[in-house]
Amino acid sequence: MNTKSTQLNIRDRCVHVCQHSSCLRQGSAIILLEFQLADLPEKTTILPCECQGQCSASPTVVVTPDQTWYYRVTPKDVTKIVEQHLKGGEPVKEKLHPRFHPRV
Ligand code: FES
Repeated sequence: MNTKSTQLNIRDRCVHVCQHSSCLRQGSAIILLEFQLADLPEKTTILPCECQGQCSASPTVVVTPDQTWYYRVTPKDVTKIVEQHLKGGEPVKEKLHPRFHPRV
């Protein structure tokens, strides 16, 4: 059995989609599903996660290892995050959480 294929390489990109109460009330289950169904680049993993402490700006999505925080993510934003960020390497500026990505 090849265990390598089931192990997550920490250098690979992960998209953490909060599935805790506040985010769920704002539709994060749909956000998670949209990411899971998207045409993702190789070595990208979609993971449901617990509260990220940003409930007032939910749904919260965090991309690692680059530590990009997205806030108030909608299903329409998922397509843009996949195309522009995950495939193109350019974060979606208008959806960056200002607490972690201050606008200058
Ligand atoms: S419930 Fe999602 S950030 Fe707190």
